[in-house]
Amino acid sequence: QVEGQNFLDSTLLAAVVELLLFAKKHPPYIPSSIPFLGHAIAFGKSPIEFLENAYEKYGPVFSFTMVGKTFTFLLGSEAAALMFSSKNDELNAEDVYSKLTTPVFGKGVAYDVPNHVFLEQKKMFKTGLNSVRFKQHVKLVEAETIEYFQRWGDSGERNLFEALSELIILTASSCLHGQEIRSMLNERVAQLYADLDGGFSHAAWLLPSWLPLPSFRKRDKAHVEIKKMFFKVIEKRRSSGEKVDDILQTLIDATYKDGQPMNDNEVAGMLIGLLLAGQHTSSTTSAWLGFFLARDKALQEHCYAEQKAVCGEHLPPLDYDQLKDLSLLERCLKETLRLRPPIMTMMRMARTPQAAVGYTIPVGHQVCVSPTVNHRLRDTWVERMDFQPDRYLNNNPAAGEKFAYIPFGAGRHRCIGENFAYVQIKTIWSTLLRMYEFDLVDGYFPTINYTTMIHTPHNPIIRYKRRKQ
Ligand code: HEM
Repeated sequence: QVEGQNFLDSTLLAAVVELLLFAKKHPPYIPSSIPFLGHAIAFGKSPIEFLENAYEKYGPVFSFTMVGKTFTFLLGSEAAALMFSSKNDELNAEDVYSKLTTPVFGKGVAYDVPNHVFLEQKKMFKTGLNSVRFKQHVKLVEAETIEYFQRWGDSGERNLFEALSELIILTASSCLHGQEIRSMLNERVAQLYADLDGGFSHAAWLLPSWLPLPSFRKRDKAHVEIKKMFFKVIEKRRSSGEKVDDILQTLIDATYKDGQPMNDNEVAGMLIGLLLAGQHTSSTTSAWLGFFLARDKALQEHCYAEQKAVCGEHLPPLDYDQLKDLSLLERCLKETLRLRPPIMTMMRMARTPQAAVGYTIPVGHQVCVSPTVNHRLRDTWVERMDFQPDRYLNNNPAAGEKFAYIPFGAGRHRCIGENFAYVQIKTIWSTLLRMYEFDLVDGYFPTINYTTMIHTPHNPIIRYKRRKQ
């Protein structure tokens, strides 16, 4: 009888909680007169302006519809806290990301597996990213950068974003895949990566993945071919018994909590995922950093002088310990990530009703947090639109708010590539600043291209001239 009473009490309690939750109102909804498409056109044209206007009018939490889906944004540090503290079965990542990522990375990794498994996979990779490896990475990235930029000659005007995208596939492959896979990277393989990467498109997000679209077919064919290539390397490593000191070896040797190692398909899927997770994020960030430095010649010269002060007047080959001491360059990168965070929106599916600053977000809403908006909120940041690397010399550059600066996310889905990205981008730019001086072409600072999934610089041509030693 006592058990029955307990059951009744807990059912009653659940009902009361649910009543309290549902009694609250839904977030304000931005109406639209366009059926189905809703606000897709206005948002697509200028998403940041759209969100900032909505924030002014409706406050930190609001909903609107695009292409038949309802999105609820949580803007500002306080509202964003809901996303970062929630459990994955309340605000779910697989429901929104898997459709894009699973055809590209393959089955058995990332958003194709329950989140607790992906967390173990993230941990295995992270153990491979230690300072001994970073020391190797600085050497590899420096060598790749010098080699790649030989084609630029002494002076000219070139597409910086394109060059950095090509370079970063090479550097990331060297550092994350190891020398066997890097040595296979010729033009044909680069094309396969490009086809695979074509899977990250708005079409792939909106349409079923089995549709016979040419870009979907290319993606699927590239996936099979790249995996075949990786399987051969993994198989050779396993059978030779030779232990190479690199990340591929870390993944081959790692085990899940139950003692099982990753199988070849999982290792290969991780290799694809890691390469692509860092590819666009790091190449856009590097390109924007270049344009911020080209716009402010005094700052560019300070970064160069910092290298001479830290590394020595004759600039010997870069070294990880010295790289860490390039603090002005680091602050410039940090400020670039504030004003141009490559991931503009993080998304989750509400699987249960969610309470957020006085509202209840219903099940089925796609809940979003925008680093870009948080990084420039009027009440949070002083001189919010200005590029000021020295703001980080102050203790509280963002009014001490916990989620005001989130280029790498937070909580259970937080990025594990942050340290590697800093090492990679700082090495590339230290090397480039030793080679060239950079200028904007006729004062043009790129506008933002919102049509790509990761917002890239528009017409990213830069002027360069070899530095006199
Ligand atoms: C400038 C460079 C980068 C930026 C700005 C960046 C940004 C982010 C952000 C915002 C998230 C959170 C996504 C979410 O919560 O929905 C994330 C997650 C992640 N990133 Fe990065 N990233 C960068 C580079 C890298 C690199 C180089 C790697 C790997 C080598 C990487 C691997 C990952 C992984 C595995 C996750 C975890 C996703 C999850 O748990 O759901 N990222 N990154």
